[in-house]
Amino acid sequence: MTNAIPKAVLIGMPGAGKTRIGQDVASVLNVEFKDSDVEIEAREQTKIPQIFEERGEKAFRIIESDVILGFMHGFGGVLSLGGGAPMTDSVCAALERYVDEGGVVAYLDADPSEAIARASRSGNRPLLADGAAKKWRRLYAERKPVFEHLANLIVHTKGKTPMQAAQNIADTA
Ligand code: S3P
Repeated sequence: MTNAIPKAVLIGMPGAGKTRIGQDVASVLNVEFKDSDVEIEAREQTKIPQIFEERGEKAFRIIESDVILGFMHGFGGVLSLGGGAPMTDSVCAALERYVDEGGVVAYLDADPSEAIARASRSGNRPLLADGAAKKWRRLYAERKPVFEHLANLIVHTKGKTPMQAAQNIADTA
């Protein structure tokens, strides 16, 4: 394992564009990209809705924090986190340490209606399965202060192309 830390970690609500923008940041910086949701599904060999359904959210959060903590050292690429990940204490603490080490936590603050529309298009988000808009807004109210506390870069994505938002992050990373 190397001493590398991620070039940037992207946080934000479902539908904020973390995966797309994270891929663009990685390609601008010419480094690897990882998405915690994809890594969880690969490790568990199943889809996220199945994990929620069969084992519950608590079990999902344990797997999620384990996967993310594994990338906070020894991975020098760009990492996107699932929207709820920073709400887990161990992930929150790891992100605080990462910022102290000089890392970049970028919070993608998207326009709520645009993010809700994007998040609702994917069937892979069990927390938004019914009443997506209302749930999204409730989670946003809970999470926004945590995202803002953790981030040392806030990117307002409204009116920006994914590549413009990515460039903003890459310039800081
Ligand atoms: C979640 C967001 C999802 C995924 C899981 C839980 C959340 O990731 O980790 O469904 O709690 O908001 P995205 O933010 O990529 O949708």
